[in-house]
Amino acid sequence: MTESITTDRRATERQTPERRRQPREPFVEFQDVFKKYGPKAVLRGATLKVYRGEVLVILGGSGTGKSVTLRHMLGLEAPDSGRVFVEEEDITDLPEEDLYRVRKKFGMLFQSGALFDSMTVFENVAFPLREHTDMSEDEIARAVREKLELVHLPNTEHLMPVDLSGGMRKRVGLARSIVLDPQVILYDEPTTGLDPITSQKINELIVDLQTKLSVTSVVVTHDIQSAFSVGDRIAFLNQGVFEWVGTMDAARDSDHPKLREFLKASAVVAAQPSK
Ligand SMILES: Nc1ncnc2c1ncn2[C@@H]1O[C@H](COP(=O)(O)OP(=O)(O)O)[C@@H](O)[C@H]1O
Ligand SMILES: [Mg+2]
Repeated sequence: MTESITTDRRATERQTPERRRQPREPFVEFQDVFKKYGPKAVLRGATLKVYRGEVLVILGGSGTGKSVTLRHMLGLEAPDSGRVFVEEEDITDLPEEDLYRVRKKFGMLFQSGALFDSMTVFENVAFPLREHTDMSEDEIARAVREKLELVHLPNTEHLMPVDLSGGMRKRVGLARSIVLDPQVILYDEPTTGLDPITSQKINELIVDLQTKLSVTSVVVTHDIQSAFSVGDRIAFLNQGVFEWVGTMDAARDSDHPKLREFLKASAVVAAQPSK
């Protein structure tokens, strides 16, 4: 062993034998996806599988196309070429009215959090239920309470977003993104802009929700400590392709030069070269 490993091992410990035995069924699949904006080629043959029940971390530098990748999963963007599948359904050319059904499978925690500042915490979390279901007020109240408890924010229904810390706002956003009981949760930079302790609490929450809700999670980040504390696997996005995909342990031991450089920058592997 020539590398010192400085990150925690929880993600590895969560790989129980049962979990490893589960059939490897892709929930989302990208096949050779290309996407340009004007002259700028962002995705250039991106191929990826997100397996049911895993936490896949998409790691990559700023502006590499991580958010663009999430938007393709939701059908908010269509590729110029290549295919996107969700539960084996090809969603690449689906019309908007069919995409609605696909999007219901996903909960998305946006980078900005994007709470409605003029609404209470309760109304923020209730919003998707009012938009997309015909639940009664009692049912809505129950669902909102349940989700706020899951993100460890009980009894905050009456607060306004302005009363909340950055970490609490993220958690309200998260309660809202799971209120329709999605099968997949997409997190776009969930810890960016938060202090280390608050970030760690969000990481723990991601792991906790994964277990309690039996969901599949995709976590986009450039925060490597966060990646290692939540992820089962890493997909390293560089120059428009997923250049390296594998388990967290394999990532630590990988000799892929750019991935190593990325990990070294945050001391996940030792800066000293291996003998
Ligand atoms: N709708 C758009 N129009 C033009 N350019 C875009 C659009 N969406 C993304 N881009 C460009 O694509 C690149 C990747 O964006 P993004 O996925 O947001 O990066 P990140 O990896 O930081 O999330 C950026 O250079 C961005 O400017
Ligand atoms: Mg982004």
